[in-house]
Amino acid sequence: SQASDNMRILTGALLLAVLGTGLAQQLQQPDPCEHRHRVVGDITYCDRYWECVSGTPQNYDCPNGLVFVGRNRGIAEGCDYPWRGAYCDNKQLANPPLSTEHCDWLYGIFGHETSCTRYWTCWNGTATEQFCIGGLLYNEETHACDWPSNVRGCQKHPLCTEDPDANVPLGSSCERYWACQGGYPRLQRCPATLVFDKQSRRCIAPPTQDCEAPTTTEAPLGEGTGFRGESAPRPQPRPRTRPQPRPTQSRIQQQPQQQRPTKIAPQSSPERPFVPAGAIPVRFNDPEPQGGFAPQQQGGFSP
Ligand SMILES: *[C@@H]1O[C@H](CO)[C@@H](O)[C@H](O)[C@H]1NC(C)=O
Repeated sequence: SQASDNMRILTGALLLAVLGTGLAQQLQQPDPCEHRHRVVGDITYCDRYWECVSGTPQNYDCPNGLVFVGRNRGIAEGCDYPWRGAYCDNKQLANPPLSTEHCDWLYGIFGHETSCTRYWTCWNGTATEQFCIGGLLYNEETHACDWPSNVRGCQKHPLCTEDPDANVPLGSSCERYWACQGGYPRLQRCPATLVFDKQSRRCIAPPTQDCEAPTTTEAPLGEGTGFRGESAPRPQPRPRTRPQPRPTQSRIQQQPQQQRPTKIAPQSSPERPFVPAGAIPVRFNDPEPQGGFAPQQQGGFSP
């Protein structure tokens, strides 16, 4: 009959369409053995790539938490932090996060549970605590130390909560003090020959109650600096852009698929609130970001 003929044509067309789509998708995946670099990214998953091994395409997954960015690029095996580019736009993740203590993924940079001035760098699930220096705070959106005005939830520094525009003594130092400006602290040094007077909170000519004359020796930091008794950490050496040791054999063969994460970058949440701790190592230079990442903007402070 006419109706069943129509139905047969329609079914045939649908079948062709489905087959065609499947073929097109398969054909789109480039063969790494025909590629100059012998490595190509997967067309569906941003954390997966294909490599030509003995003339045969093999697929590999990036270290957990990283996405494929290209041969000889990224921090490990051609893979890099996902927030450094739009690598996962229009692609999915093949693997769910593998979490360890402090690390949402085995590799990445993550916010501290209780401090705005600290963060964790994770390499293969091992967390290393890092500190933002010079009054910078960790910005979970850029995964870098940043000006406090750019860090949501950590706007004002605890040093300056009492008075957002006051000078604050720095421990028992006679020359150094914090100058709060709009709630953001800057480390200052009194001009030569002057000492910081805790009563008037200004640099004045000695002697004061605590200070005879400017000395070159300083009381150890972290004692009596007025916030939480935390010792000020020493600035860390700048990490190399390519963290060491570079894993030589961390290729993870494709794992059976589990539940997929919906987002790769952890955001602050009620379970992970930011509470300023306020430990700042002393430094006289303008604040420099750590971790090798520049702050997005430098608009927060007026010098
Ligand atoms: C990562 O750690 C696991 C054990 O925690 C270890 O078996 C593996 O070899 C490590 N991979 C790399 C690349 O260091």
